[in-house]
Amino acid sequence: MDYEKVHLSLLMSAMISYLTFVCVSSKATHIVGDRVGWASPGYNSFYENWSKNVTFNVGDVLLFQYNPGLSTVVHVNKDDYDHCTTRNVMQTYFRGNSSITLDHPGEYFFFCSVGKHCEAGQKLQITVSQGNPPSKTS
Ligand SMILES: *[C@@H]1O[C@H](CO)[C@@H](O)[C@H](O)[C@H]1NC(C)=O
Ligand SMILES: *[C@@H]1O[C@H](CO)[C@@H](O)[C@H](O)[C@H]1NC(C)=O
Ligand SMILES: *[C@@H]1O[C@H](CO)[C@@H](O)[C@H](O)[C@H]1NC(C)=O
Repeated sequence: MDYEKVHLSLLMSAMISYLTFVCVSSKATHIVGDRVGWASPGYNSFYENWSKNVTFNVGDVLLFQYNPGLSTVVHVNKDDYDHCTTRNVMQTYFRGNSSITLDHPGEYFFFCSVGKHCEAGQKLQITVSQGNPPSKTS
């Protein structure tokens, strides 16, 4: 019966839009440092410890919570990260509460370029995975 077909295709399109919704909504926003936010942490490996317990996938967003003037976020390479130098800055964020979309897999390095904050441990290194490939439609 035609009625059955219509019913089936409605069901199919409902399922497809549901799957699309699930995929889109699985992009996470990670608040860097959770309640501490983006600040000089109490100890040097604070952000390393924080990132250990988080999975970063392409499309996720990092939210650095800070007030302008107190901190910045500079996106650098590993060499600058290791030495707290700013020779190869890819991007600087300073307006406060910066959201950064992780748009490619691989390693990302950030630190705060204010004063000696980087030396004090206000630095973040993460590895971003490709994440789940889009679900196959059969
Ligand atoms: C390390 O991170 C975990 C999970 O985020 C947290 O529960 C723990 O208190 C942290 N350790 C220290 C020493 O801050
Ligand atoms: C990571 O976080 C989850 C949920 O917040 C927690 O249950 C788990 O114990 C944490 N793992 C580590 C290694 O801190
Ligand atoms: C940043 O976000 C926090 C928490 O939502 C908020 O309290 C603060 O006012 C914001 N600061 C700026 C500069 O937007």
